[in-house]
Amino acid sequence: MFPYSHFPQRRMRRMRHDKFSRNLMREAHLLPNDFIYPVFVLDGKKRSENIESMPGVVRQSVDILMVQAERCMRLGIPALAIFPVIDIEQKNLTASEAYNPDGLVPRTIKQLKTSFPELGIITDIALDPYTIHGQDGLIDQSGYVMNDETVQVLCQQALVHAQAGADIVAPSDMMDGRISAIRNSLDNHKLIHTRILAYSAKYASSFYGPFRDAVGSSKNLGTGNKYTYQMDPANSDEALWEVGLDLDEGADMVMIKPGMPYLDIIRRVKDQFGAPTFVYQVSGEYAMLKASVINGWLNEESCVLESLLAFKRAGADGILTYYAVEAAEWLRNLE
Ligand code: PBG
Repeated sequence: MFPYSHFPQRRMRRMRHDKFSRNLMREAHLLPNDFIYPVFVLDGKKRSENIESMPGVVRQSVDILMVQAERCMRLGIPALAIFPVIDIEQKNLTASEAYNPDGLVPRTIKQLKTSFPELGIITDIALDPYTIHGQDGLIDQSGYVMNDETVQVLCQQALVHAQAGADIVAPSDMMDGRISAIRNSLDNHKLIHTRILAYSAKYASSFYGPFRDAVGSSKNLGTGNKYTYQMDPANSDEALWEVGLDLDEGADMVMIKPGMPYLDIIRRVKDQFGAPTFVYQVSGEYAMLKASVINGWLNEESCVLESLLAFKRAGADGILTYYAVEAAEWLRNLE
């Protein structure tokens, strides 16, 4: 393939000699446009709580979130992803709060859209913040997460979010058949512009721990696990199968999650389908980086930007990262 020549005619270091030629041959580029900022939302006013296992990330009420949204707009970050922290009294076995049109998520969407109509709003479609057992769906007597019954509730949840003004609904539950069911129910309500970002290759990962602390589902989940619906980290072909199904069912964008340990999956998905491909640098990845930084073991800016650039090189079109705002600021200062 290459017209190989050898040392000393071929010196690979020649192109690396100056910044200008390094820049010229750079393949991947990182821009604030690539980021989606995940945020944890609380009910009430003027509330901001630290999350112990995610230093620097907070749970916040909508009034405080507005300041973050304004920052995203200013920095050129295209979208926010909203994750609600639901009070324990509002959780139950049927996850009924998930489709309450006056619930925390619909109210948050409306407030954000009123002030920042151009900021993309993404909502998580899954039941784990709303169930008392912390599973992403409705369970039967044995504790098994029931697929088809759950999909019906997910459709109601997606509809309520879309009607409140969400631009993108993002099913992160891994039930079978949910993409076509959600697409149909949105279309039946003339919500043809609402995009679906499918968490298609979502692994049963241990890197979600800090997120579950953040939304308060870890206590509920206890020693439970999600192995009957999230994917086995050992598998790669299965991820292609999942992505193919979701695209067939009408997904507009697909997601791989977690990020850093799954770069091979991003590359395979992008090569195979060429569809808009996203990756989630999850809470455990954030915690890992942050812990090293706090200990003085890693340089935060260069390590975080390197981790994000690697997603682009692997084929991702966009990245959900808790570092979105800081990374966008660093990139601006590097200009
Ligand atoms: C729930 C959901 C999870 C995350 C996003 N949506 C946790 C889970 O599946 O248990 C994890 C995100 C992160 O770790 O940052 N449907």
